[in-house]
Amino acid sequence: MTAIPAPGPPPGDNRLGAILDDLSGKGWSWQPDFLPEALYHALRAEVLAINAEDELAPAGIGRETAFQLDRTIRRSRIAWMDGTTPAQADFLHWAEQLRESINRSLMIGMFEFEACFAVYRPGEFYDRHLDSFEGARNRVVSLVVYLNEDWQAESGGALLVWPEGAGEEAPHVARILPERAGVVFMLSETVPHAVEVTHALRFGIAAWWRVNPSIQGQIDPLA
Ligand code: OGA
Ligand code: MN
Repeated sequence: MTAIPAPGPPPGDNRLGAILDDLSGKGWSWQPDFLPEALYHALRAEVLAINAEDELAPAGIGRETAFQLDRTIRRSRIAWMDGTTPAQADFLHWAEQLRESINRSLMIGMFEFEACFAVYRPGEFYDRHLDSFEGARNRVVSLVVYLNEDWQAESGGALLVWPEGAGEEAPHVARILPERAGVVFMLSETVPHAVEVTHALRFGIAAWWRVNPSIQGQIDPLA
């Protein structure tokens, strides 16, 4: 593993504190240029290679028996991370440090992390949704990381964020362009969001921390 600095900027700049305040206050946080530079380059190289080798599968909605491939709601392709490459191992390590900080201050008890590379081709999108699926409400905090160099405003592909629990008619409160090394945190169960149609290839990572819904002493197998 290469040496990856602790999450966020140097001591004195309290971005981790801002993330925690945002999550407990409004339920989401946008952090431009938050992924460490070395990690950005390594993960970007990896997603470019995965895309070139066409190792991505169409993304679905829901999981297991509820899994659907509804291309009217979501069009993108994903590749799950398994932590076996150096870049993935470093990313999982970085995320683990964030997990410890978030757990300590928000008392959420996040337990497991799952992450996938996500690629949207021109014309692709993801309609408004929550990340915690019906029947498997154990994703608690979502993490999105952008791996696009020089994203142009005309390319669209913005992330729209609505206030916690907002109704279908409510206006969105943020429109975030998927700029290099930017990171978004959202409470998975309550913050509706969408990805506008992109006009350029759009690279990123979608990830979630889950709580352990231990049922009758059995640990939920991580699907
Ligand atoms: C998701 C998602 C947002 C983005 O994958 O669930 O909402 O900006 N992604 O890529
Ligand atoms: Mn989502």
